Amino acid sequence: MRAVFAASFTVSSAALIAAAAPALAHGHTDPAKGAVPLSADEMLAPYYAKLEKQIELPVAQPNVSLPRETTLTRVAFGSCNHQSRSQHMWAQIAAKNPDMFLFIGDNNYGDQFWKGDASLTTLRAAYAKMAQTPELGEFRSKVPMMVTWDDHDFGFNDGGANFAFRGWSETIFETFWGSSNEVRSRPGIYESVTFGEEGKRTQIIILDTRYFRSDFEAIPYSPERPPLGPYLPSNDTSKTLLGDEQWSWLSQELAKPADLRIVVSSIQVVTDAHNYESWEALPIERTKLYGMLAAREASGLVLLSGDRHAGGIYADTPSREITRTGEKFWELTSSSMNYSFSSTEQNTKREPDAKRITDLISEENFGTVEIDWDAKAFTMKLYGNKGEERASQSVKF
Ligand SMILES: [Fe+2]
Repeated sequence: MRAVFAASFTVSSAALIAAAAPALAHGHTDPAKGAVPLSADEMLAPYYAKLEKQIELPVAQPNVSLPRETTLTRVAFGSCNHQSRSQHMWAQIAAKNPDMFLFIGDNNYGDQFWKGDASLTTLRAAYAKMAQTPELGEFRSKVPMMVTWDDHDFGFNDGGANFAFRGWSETIFETFWGSSNEVRSRPGIYESVTFGEEGKRTQIIILDTRYFRSDFEAIPYSPERPPLGPYLPSNDTSKTLLGDEQWSWLSQELAKPADLRIVVSSIQVVTDAHNYESWEALPIERTKLYGMLAAREASGLVLLSGDRHAGGIYADTPSREITRTGEKFWELTSSSMNYSFSSTEQNTKREPDAKRITDLISEENFGTVEIDWDAKAFTMKLYGNKGEERASQSVKF
């Protein structure tokens, strides 16, 4: 989500490289006449290889692991936690005794005050600050975590594949979170793990909505610009949200056996109610996602998202041309953990949405998915910063 700090951004030569990166990132520019065109990633690789030897990247506090045979009954998640603001939410989340916690993006705001340097000084400093956060350390000693990023901890507000320093940002992320060898072995940070025994298997699918993503179509500037965000849906078929590799990985993951699947997207999926970042900005890609989800090996399904500095429970039933089954998709959005901009009353009024079945909860919050394996039902819940319940919806699967 576009944050309020744009004015503090200083343009430097490196930022201009980032801005010019559409051509560079995909290798359309020939930097040395007669040579094979290099992508920005390729050009920067020797620099980063050297840098990695010279500096020590921050590493998160040790995290308890979660055995794969564990039957999950409560998965907590949250997003949008500024590293320099109050870290009170960790204790509230731990108090719900979740089996695990999904930290689903804008896990820090390392893009703020960035001066455009290729070493991503402010991003590294934000992670270093997290490594020194006792509340997070305490939480990680008790609750297993899985993570993905959104734009602010990717390092570039509303950024995607055209962020020229994305490879270095990935190295910083994977080093900090201690990513698996599988995640380290490929571009991007997407990941999937299945927990529990047959009949009670939960597959957690964590998407990377940043590394491969094409630029969204921005609304041209006008003084009357609508207040609900800068992006318009684009039907440009060359644009991608997940990128080819991640798309084919996802279809393989969805073919694996599972009883319930939790699919995490940092940005919102089903809503059409705003023009901030969401899957609505690339409708062709969203239709593809719905088709792929509907074609999954039979299982329950819930989508989780964050990013908005507000949360709510959403439901959408895409047309039968898209899903054949006419099934209803459920999405639980939770944001923010410590970075609230507005009140529920104001936001609910400002953003009417037929797909949202709750208020747009704008005070600090986190979410849980609770699974009742006997009743074959999951319950989506949002909790406030005193641990009080703010929203709840049960779904049979
Ligand atoms: Fe975001």
